[in-house]
Amino acid sequence: TTRLTRTAQELRDLPRTGRRAVVMTMGALHEGHATLVRAARELAGPDGQVVVTVFVNPLQFGAGEDLDRYPRTLDADLEIAGRAGADTVFAPSVEEVYPGGEPQVRVSAGPMGERLEGAFRPGHFDGVLTVVAKLLHLTAPDVALFGEKDAQQLALIRRMVQDLNFPVEIVGVPTVREPDGLALSSRNRYLSPADRASALELSRALLAGHNVVELGPAAVRHAAHVVLHEAAGATPPVELDYLALVDPSDFTEVPEGHRGEAVLAVAARVGTTRLIDNVRLEFG
Ligand code: PAJ
Repeated sequence: TTRLTRTAQELRDLPRTGRRAVVMTMGALHEGHATLVRAARELAGPDGQVVVTVFVNPLQFGAGEDLDRYPRTLDADLEIAGRAGADTVFAPSVEEVYPGGEPQVRVSAGPMGERLEGAFRPGHFDGVLTVVAKLLHLTAPDVALFGEKDAQQLALIRRMVQDLNFPVEIVGVPTVREPDGLALSSRNRYLSPADRASALELSRALLAGHNVVELGPAAVRHAAHVVLHEAAGATPPVELDYLALVDPSDFTEVPEGHRGEAVLAVAARVGTTRLIDNVRLEFG
């Protein structure tokens, strides 16, 4: 049975046996989250502990974003986390995480935090890294798992752990998709059937880029843009925020002639829902 903990003190009182693996979420759990929890169970082993955190972090939402309507489904989350192998779900209140109100001291994501997602969501990654740092301190894991779905977030967390000497191993987990290619997201539940059909164009654009990887970066960008240009005329339209082909270590654009790994990343709005997706490419 899965234990629900609400306070930092209860977390400190948990027995500490074997390896501890942590999966951080904002709840509204889906099969993508469940895949992270199953991977955490594997890494912790039968004698270790798997802790899932569920916390909608106000600090990472901008004014006019969906903090107030973000889905909150704790009972279902407990069920999903438990079935995927979690021992403990830590679901603190905002007051428990921010007892002093808005934190005065925060983690700065630096230049990488101002590119792509960061350019469209100012302060977002400072808010993410601040809460991830706090949750790492509160849960004190040996290993923490994050999804490649949020590729820039994962890269920044790796960088924070390296730059600030957090004693934790960070493990990335590949993006879980619907059979038709749509990346699973808590925000997918905002989509009407027509919205969902338009949303599928994001993964279709990434696949179009992926299919011409041997032709180089310019061809990849072009192939993806062709799909997104057409999708701009769909009903409802796919309103592009960015399409970028970047270096996975710092999220700067890769030059023509680039060799090795790259991330093709896209963000777009469909109706009132903002969606992101990405795919990893290897240029030979
Ligand atoms: P959230 O969006 O709930 O995602 C929690 C974790 O699940 C993240 O590591 C995310 O990358 C991963 N994830 C989401 N959808 C996925 C999918 N389709 N396949 C694989 N992994 C997926 O990301 C956050 O919450 C927050 O920013 C958080 C890190 C918890 C800090 O508040």
